[in-house]
Amino acid sequence: MAGTPHDLGELLEHPAVQRAVDDCSLELQARREYRPPACEVFHKAFTVLEETDGYRFTIDKEAERLLPKIIGNRVQVVRGRAKLSAEARREHARQRHIGIVFSGGPAPGGHNVIAGLFDAAKRANPENRLFGFLVGPDGVVENECVEITRERVDAFRNLGGFTMLKTGRAKIDSRQKIDLSRRTCKELKLDALVIVGGDDSNTNAAFLAQEMFDDGIQVIGVPKTIDGDIQVRDDNGHLLCAVSFGFHTAARAFANAIAGLSNDASSDIKYYHVCKVMGRVASHLALEVALQAHPNITVIGEDLVDFVDEERMGKARRDGTTDYTAYGMTLRHLSRIICEGIVKRAAVGKNYGVIVIPEGVLEFINEVEVFIMKLNTIIAEYNRTRDRDFHSAFPSLEQKLEFLHRLAQRSRDDDSFKLWNTRDEDLFNDLPEFFQEGLLTERDSHGNFQFSQIHTERVLMGLVHDYLNILKEKGRYKLGIRRDYVVKTLRKSGLDPERYGPAIFQNYGDGDYLLTKGSIISAKTLRQELERAGLLQPQDPLPAAVEGIYKKTVPSFKTQEHFYGYDGRGNDPTRFDCIYTYNLGLTAFSLIANGATGQMTAIRNLERSFAEWEPIGIPIAPLMHLEDRKGKLALVLEKALVDLGSVAFNVFKAHQDRWLAAAPGEDHYRRPGPIRCDGNDEDRPITLVLNALTAPPGACAAARPLTRSPAGDGGKKSTRRTATGAPLRVDGLVKGPRGGLSAPGTGSRAASFQHRSACPAGPSGCRCPPPAGP
Ligand code: FBP
Repeated sequence: MAGTPHDLGELLEHPAVQRAVDDCSLELQARREYRPPACEVFHKAFTVLEETDGYRFTIDKEAERLLPKIIGNRVQVVRGRAKLSAEARREHARQRHIGIVFSGGPAPGGHNVIAGLFDAAKRANPENRLFGFLVGPDGVVENECVEITRERVDAFRNLGGFTMLKTGRAKIDSRQKIDLSRRTCKELKLDALVIVGGDDSNTNAAFLAQEMFDDGIQVIGVPKTIDGDIQVRDDNGHLLCAVSFGFHTAARAFANAIAGLSNDASSDIKYYHVCKVMGRVASHLALEVALQAHPNITVIGEDLVDFVDEERMGKARRDGTTDYTAYGMTLRHLSRIICEGIVKRAAVGKNYGVIVIPEGVLEFINEVEVFIMKLNTIIAEYNRTRDRDFHSAFPSLEQKLEFLHRLAQRSRDDDSFKLWNTRDEDLFNDLPEFFQEGLLTERDSHGNFQFSQIHTERVLMGLVHDYLNILKEKGRYKLGIRRDYVVKTLRKSGLDPERYGPAIFQNYGDGDYLLTKGSIISAKTLRQELERAGLLQPQDPLPAAVEGIYKKTVPSFKTQEHFYGYDGRGNDPTRFDCIYTYNLGLTAFSLIANGATGQMTAIRNLERSFAEWEPIGIPIAPLMHLEDRKGKLALVLEKALVDLGSVAFNVFKAHQDRWLAAAPGEDHYRRPGPIRCDGNDEDRPITLVLNALTAPPGACAAARPLTRSPAGDGGKKSTRRTATGAPLRVDGLVKGPRGGLSAPGTGSRAASFQHRSACPAGPSGCRCPPPAGP
């Protein structure tokens, strides 16, 4: 259309307007066209599976009992073959119907799992058909599905979200649901079902594999979750799955947004940006964000577990008593540690910064964890024994508190009832209402506590605010002011800096940043100091220059809160996740074509160059252990927590002071840059890269002890013991990694601890590199 449009209709037809409002951006087009490379083995005409005996797993008795058909599965390595026997070729190319379902929260890269599976299936036999179940596992139960066509796959290649099929958190966990799922698979004549999900969904995959074994319907899991907590090692520490897909993208997206906040904070110099980042339990995402963006303060939940307050311990020792409250981190302690960083930065004039708090931090705060455990049990017990569930029976907070009050009364009348006593009630009533509501919030369908629903950062920052005010009143929280500014301003007003300086500042004699004396906490006390120094008479007004300088030394702590979770979870995948997930899809087909079931796809050597990536199948059943869900012990996959002995954690720890930047000069913020699918080979999780390095013996032994608020407590120290993986016990209950109860000493965490215990360097000294895979 040439010339000026005559009306709105014509304007809207204009090619520039059409281009501007098109749903498909150029970036999106480029993403759809990008073709991730396939691992070497997939370049061959066929793939076969090679079973290996080189891995050891401690088999849980219950897994052995409940999953007898797949418990003997072994690790399978996918190998490429140019030729196969005629019979094997026929089997490989046999027409198949395959179903795929997304389960749990979205994670970037899911569509590429479908693309990889689709491409491999069609390559093996163009007649192969792929069915996508809609809205998660319910789609399998209710047989709600669509056939996945090439057009559909092409429209979603390299795109984030689980939009093609949607997802859901339902669980196939009852006899009836299992039977219905089996019926669906039979109705669709499925040869195989692929479940793309986290620990719970892979647990589902194992049970369905067992159930449909005799029907010849294979079930394959694909490790997904932005939380990065599906990591698999065998008993000897051999790494099989380093990270779940979606983790890298989410962390990069969070880090990029946080880098923007760092720019803003250090420009406008008035806010602390408090960023809660997702990760239901483990702090992997927070750690990766710290390494990507270098925020000033990052809390790692796992770092708090074995905290011991030496100050309280010492006092108790001196008094000849035992102070149980000295064990374990409390919200108050944590707020003090954060305050310490803020006070130190303030001393060099930095009244701004960026703080990262992991969503799951409450899991590692003993006092809160005890509440979560008790309330989980109370709610589960109520639901088990009544017709109505707890939340419908007590919809309001008031009603819930009234119910808890009755339990506390019961504990007074009945000695054997210990679950909720008067002390619990008193402590609980001290919490802010929104926090009480959060702790009583409905558990998800897996019985998990929903950390994302709780404003952890608000609770913590409330305590930080309160404590900073106390420190201000005590004259310990002050904003440092540049010496040259002070000198210039005083001189300009005809005041002698050499007389006023020592009267006002505690460090006038040294330092680029001056701190007012501890005694100066108001204009009144400032006057008093000047009068004492003979610089002011009682009737004299405070010199304007002095008053102006003083005002600049009073810190004001202003925060902006942010939650990074759903945004990064829905981001388009990084190049790493695009390639990783496409190859997971290709691997899923190889496992199916070679008759595997009850296996989870994985790529070994993700930390190495792409040429060394090795697709494998990991047996799910041997990874399972007993954990409390909804108040009952259930067989599940163990979540991997941040290893305090890992290189990544220790590199982070070694840089904490630098990134706090409580020294004159610039901050050390890092800009990770935008997420692209055509990036370079280096673009992969930093934690993955660091954890692949071999640390010199002892280098990562004991991370520096946490210091508890020297600003507030005169530099007294509290120390953190190295994590032992020892479970927390409350009234005979044992805490699993999600606030539930679990059988102690099971799973890979325990196995890794066993290894460390056996190491000559001892559990905290052991920095042995994981043995090379067989
Ligand atoms: P998955 O484990 O299902 O992948 O989900 C992880 C997660 O994104 C957590 O980081 C977060 O706590 C949770 O989901 C939020 O759940 P919801 O989507 O139900 O709000």
